[in-house]
Amino acid sequence: MRGPLTCNRHGPLRGAIEVPGDKSISHRAILFGALATGETRVTGLLDAEDVHATRKAVARLGATVREEGAEVVVTPAGTLSEPDDVIDCGNSGTSLRLLAGVLAGLPGLAVLTGDASLRRRPVRRVIEPLRLMGAELVARDGDRVPPLVIRGRQLVAVRHQLKVASAQVKSAILLAGLRADGVTSVTEPERSRDHTERMLRGMGVPVTVEGLTVSISPSRPRGTLIDVPGDISSAAFFLCAAAGLAGSQVTIRNMGVNPTRTGLLDVLRAMGADLTVSGEREVAGEPRADVTVRARGLVATEIRGALIPRLIDELPVLMVLATQASGRTVIRDARELRVKESDRLAAMGETLAAAGAKLELFDDGCAIEGPVRLSGVTVKTRLDHRIAMSMAVAQLFAGKPVHLDDVSCVATSFPSFFSLLDSLCGEPGAGGSPR
Ligand code: S3P
Repeated sequence: MRGPLTCNRHGPLRGAIEVPGDKSISHRAILFGALATGETRVTGLLDAEDVHATRKAVARLGATVREEGAEVVVTPAGTLSEPDDVIDCGNSGTSLRLLAGVLAGLPGLAVLTGDASLRRRPVRRVIEPLRLMGAELVARDGDRVPPLVIRGRQLVAVRHQLKVASAQVKSAILLAGLRADGVTSVTEPERSRDHTERMLRGMGVPVTVEGLTVSISPSRPRGTLIDVPGDISSAAFFLCAAAGLAGSQVTIRNMGVNPTRTGLLDVLRAMGADLTVSGEREVAGEPRADVTVRARGLVATEIRGALIPRLIDELPVLMVLATQASGRTVIRDARELRVKESDRLAAMGETLAAAGAKLELFDDGCAIEGPVRLSGVTVKTRLDHRIAMSMAVAQLFAGKPVHLDDVSCVATSFPSFFSLLDSLCGEPGAGGSPR
């Protein structure tokens, strides 16, 4: 779906669905498969623009990626080669930052760029640690934003201390560590998602975790089988909508429940949501489960500290849900939200305020007073998929039309979002119309 869209659906939401594969795990399956010895076979891979960007990038480095029935097969090149053109990462911060870690240790020159949103996102956070390891990196505006130019070098092992919890930066360092001359370690202020650690370990790489420090020894991953669970960050839109819309009951089957990602479930419970997690199992190193939520009255809560990295991508839709909970929901320590696909605090703050929310913005969060009846609103989606989908959920609470100025961005992570939402509303095709 491209261009503007007017949403006008009515709840409740009812049904059991699967959501598309986890975006973070999908990027890693393709990229790590390209670095490996032997083939990697992936089931459940996310088929969306962000992951296409990683697929195209590894093809530029000499790996091949092909579909074989329900599987995506990654065949690595013997050695990765210097890319013969600029690599366009589109909207994908994960592609750009993880590739920086790979390219830092690969002899040759590479240039990474992206769309207007990605070209506003910070890269100094990967430049500084990778320079310390011996690579040459420069970026636009005094090393602040892409394009990012990398000249790969033989790397030295370094112990890094991160100022912000970031799985992308941690992963870039660990990937560089695969080609360093000894043990590379990285310590975070809080634990961020650990998909890189789990997947590399599953591919035979020596990765150890001690508290908030992850260490890696130089090694080449071995090709493997990967099954990608459903993305909790995509499921979040339906779970939050169902939690707050009277009469709803939604089950998400085979959803990833890696504990570094399940802050949303903790917050829903703290808000009094009726939540059931069943059939928990681990496949290919990643836990998954079936999660059911039934609507009931919600109360405000506090979201801060170590919880933030465990639900960073779910905060926009949690801001929407907070408008429906009784009391003052407070979000703090979430400054990172300002450097995502858009400044999500500013974007959601302005948009929800325009829809009638009682909201106070802070530099690192916000306070939202509920419950309020939201009104219809026109939304600037700012090339940010999660703003578009969060406001489609706000429309359900408003019960009035919400106009999204451009929904092309939804294809970044969740091309089937609107049709799945229609199926849960029991109104096939009725809930969204191009203006
Ligand atoms: C991601 C990590 C997170 C998250 C992003 C995906 C990843 O960013 O917001 O959507 O796949 O590693 P951080 O680098 O802030 O952890």
